[in-house]
Amino acid sequence: MLGFVGGGIVGLPASGPLAVCGRRRRAVRICMGKKSADVDVSGGEKKEGTAESIESLIERVEALKEEAVTSLKEASDLRELDQLRVSLIGKKGSLSSVLKSVGKLAPEDRPKLGQVVNRAKADLEELIPNLKDELEAKAFDAQMEEEWVDVTQPGLLFNQIGYRHPLIATMDRTVNIFSGLGYDIIDDPEQSPEIETDWFNFEALNTPPDHPARDMQDTYYLTEDKKNLLRTHTSAVQIRYMTNNKPPFKICAPGRVYRRDAVDATHTALFHQIEILNLQKKGEVHLGHLKGTVIYFLQKIFGDDVEVRFRGSYFPFTEPSLEVDVFFRGKWLEVLGCGMVDPRVLENCNIDPEEWSGFAAGFGAERFAMVTHQIPDIREFYKNDLRFLNQFTGLNIE
Ligand code: DAH
Repeated sequence: MLGFVGGGIVGLPASGPLAVCGRRRRAVRICMGKKSADVDVSGGEKKEGTAESIESLIERVEALKEEAVTSLKEASDLRELDQLRVSLIGKKGSLSSVLKSVGKLAPEDRPKLGQVVNRAKADLEELIPNLKDELEAKAFDAQMEEEWVDVTQPGLLFNQIGYRHPLIATMDRTVNIFSGLGYDIIDDPEQSPEIETDWFNFEALNTPPDHPARDMQDTYYLTEDKKNLLRTHTSAVQIRYMTNNKPPFKICAPGRVYRRDAVDATHTALFHQIEILNLQKKGEVHLGHLKGTVIYFLQKIFGDDVEVRFRGSYFPFTEPSLEVDVFFRGKWLEVLGCGMVDPRVLENCNIDPEEWSGFAAGFGAERFAMVTHQIPDIREFYKNDLRFLNQFTGLNIE
């Protein structure tokens, strides 16, 4: 047996020094025999000393080209196409290998073989880019099919992407009402920090260390000297603002506050308050304005026909002080504290009480949310239980 290696021949009959072989049909490999002279291509039999004729070689080149075209067209991906290109028309490829027989040809036949081989190569070279384009298009189509997305389809998790927590929705609603009344919203950490000093949280609000009102606001102190603490109410923002700004102003400060309370259905150690302060030239705002503002706000929250009750009360930082109840779903509910700002508080902020006066109010966001949505237990707000939260998907900003 001469001149070829292995099985799976795709080129010529397994007869010449030039045979195409490979494990797989498409992985074409052209193998050269040791001596072209050993081969008689016409009959597949070895004839010592006879050179293969030019006609036979040309015929083989043509046949090889045809086979190559078929193989190239059958390439299933770009990698395979490239491998075939190298093995067929590369420098050491099967077509170039035919040229090795050139030396055995008569001189006048040599250019003929060269021409035929070059033409065959050129034809294949021309074919390959088209096949490449086809394969690329096919690969692209396959990828498109695999990564198919319907961009018009509504999000499957649409309802679970997120919506406002009922507490945040209540705060936003409140803030929007006061914003509509011309109040500036103060909620940045510079002007409304959650870590406060004793001065801003208590003393400047007329609540010295031995004051019994401190007992109502059990505190998380952060330092041994009790000078730094987690603020117990947003009233501290009043002091900061009055210290750093010149009246007149109207501010609304929503934020987190902390108390060392035992957790139960109506108490948590962290909760939210909203504070308002309206300070104007002395005499411009009086208790009537405070009551009007509070009633307007409560009507927006509970509805126009809500019944509102003011009761005299006591806060160290207001004089007079009032507590406010609403009659809601059959009973009186205490909803906020308010009053005219105590002159001593103004003095603590270097504001002349002979020149300026105003009112303040503060209330808990949780309490409002509990009352308006009939939530019986404050702890529900913090459990992140979706069965609870999913009931409030429709809360929108008004
Ligand atoms: N800071 C008070 C508290 O946490 C609530 C309060 C009452 C705020 C009266 C005020 C006010 O501004 O005037 O209990």
